[in-house]
Amino acid sequence: MAIVELDKLVKDYGKVRAIHGVDLRIEDGEFCVFVGPSGCGKSTLLRMIAGLEEISGGELRIDGERVNEQRASERGLAMVFQTYALYPHMTVRQNLAFGLENIKTPKDEIARRVAEAARMLQIEAYLDRRPKQLSGGQRQRVAIGRAVVREPRVFLFDEPLSNLDAELRVTMRGEIAGLHHRLGNTMIYVTHDQVEAMTMADKIVVLRDGRIEQVGSPLDLYNEPRNSFVAGFIGSPRMNFVDAVVETVKERSVVARDASGALFEASVDSAGLEPGAAVSVGVRPEHVTFGSEGGKPATVQTIEQLGGNSYLHCVAEDGALLAAHLPGQTAIRRGDAVRVVFRPDFTHLFRRSDGVAQKRLVVGEAV
Ligand SMILES: Nc1ncnc2c1ncn2[C@@H]1O[C@H](COP(=O)(O)OP(=O)(O)OP(=O)(O)O)[C@@H](O)[C@H]1O
Ligand SMILES: [Mg+2]
Repeated sequence: MAIVELDKLVKDYGKVRAIHGVDLRIEDGEFCVFVGPSGCGKSTLLRMIAGLEEISGGELRIDGERVNEQRASERGLAMVFQTYALYPHMTVRQNLAFGLENIKTPKDEIARRVAEAARMLQIEAYLDRRPKQLSGGQRQRVAIGRAVVREPRVFLFDEPLSNLDAELRVTMRGEIAGLHHRLGNTMIYVTHDQVEAMTMADKIVVLRDGRIEQVGSPLDLYNEPRNSFVAGFIGSPRMNFVDAVVETVKERSVVARDASGALFEASVDSAGLEPGAAVSVGVRPEHVTFGSEGGKPATVQTIEQLGGNSYLHCVAEDGALLAAHLPGQTAIRRGDAVRVVFRPDFTHLFRRSDGVAQKRLVVGEAV
């Protein structure tokens, strides 16, 4: 069991507050991902949980027990870093065993755990090599193995894949997910890569400036972003946003007009919105269609034909950049004049004053 609870956690670096009272509960066995832009406090929060950073305020509990004052080594956690942090003069086997020898684990127990971790992570063939004789991906497997042999209550990962090339990242992503599936431990994983967050997490925590913006499952965040920050951060290519002003408030939708006169309809609750209210209209690239009327007139600037998918980047007459994602291949060409239409059922509306989303009335990808 390992339930991790953050209760109004605060971190101050001198006079600068890096973490502003974060409340969060991570369930036993959950794969929880902290995501957010550089400097938002992901590593700080993880290091506070790990015991590598002093907690300035609030309470951290593991399985209900306050651990603020416990040393890192007493918390039963193991951390994997971006930089691997392997001992260069030791073999892989020695790197795996070192932490266990330090805490006087019996020799046969060490041998058993090292063999098991090596098998699980497919590094058996390299046990007698030194780190510099390994590829980046193999080194990262050793770093993960070093956490595995400690049989921690909770695994903590800080951007473990960001030094690897794109292809290896995808492979290692699958391996870490597989490891979680086999071991069933609570895992907390930091990344600034929203694709990693979407594909690995049970629960995503979106952070900005030391505060939680939203917590939820990947698809909850994707379908129901609470504000324009989360909407823009989750999803790739990014959600399209157009500044507009509310024109009409209907029973089950709101119509807004942008400065160029284009009209957008969103199937959202109109609570708190009056005609004239400043809003931001948001739609994901896959919810853009090309129509013969309505929408925004634009010119296709670039097309990425990936075979199975096509991404089109369009420029409207007023300079707005609009991305579209079409399934399959397209006959549309660079330079074509199009009308970019937002599908009302998938159009989000955010108050421009604070970015808060209006409640959507049609939710998810009804299939
Ligand atoms: N030791 C420190 N002293 C002072 N300020 C710090 C210290 N460590 C981090 N900070 C500040 O705390 C904030 C959060 O930093 P943190 O390293 O947690 O960000 P991050 O989300 O992990 O970013 P990245 O994606 O770049 O790794 C930043 O503004 C950073 O400058
Ligand atoms: Mg960091």
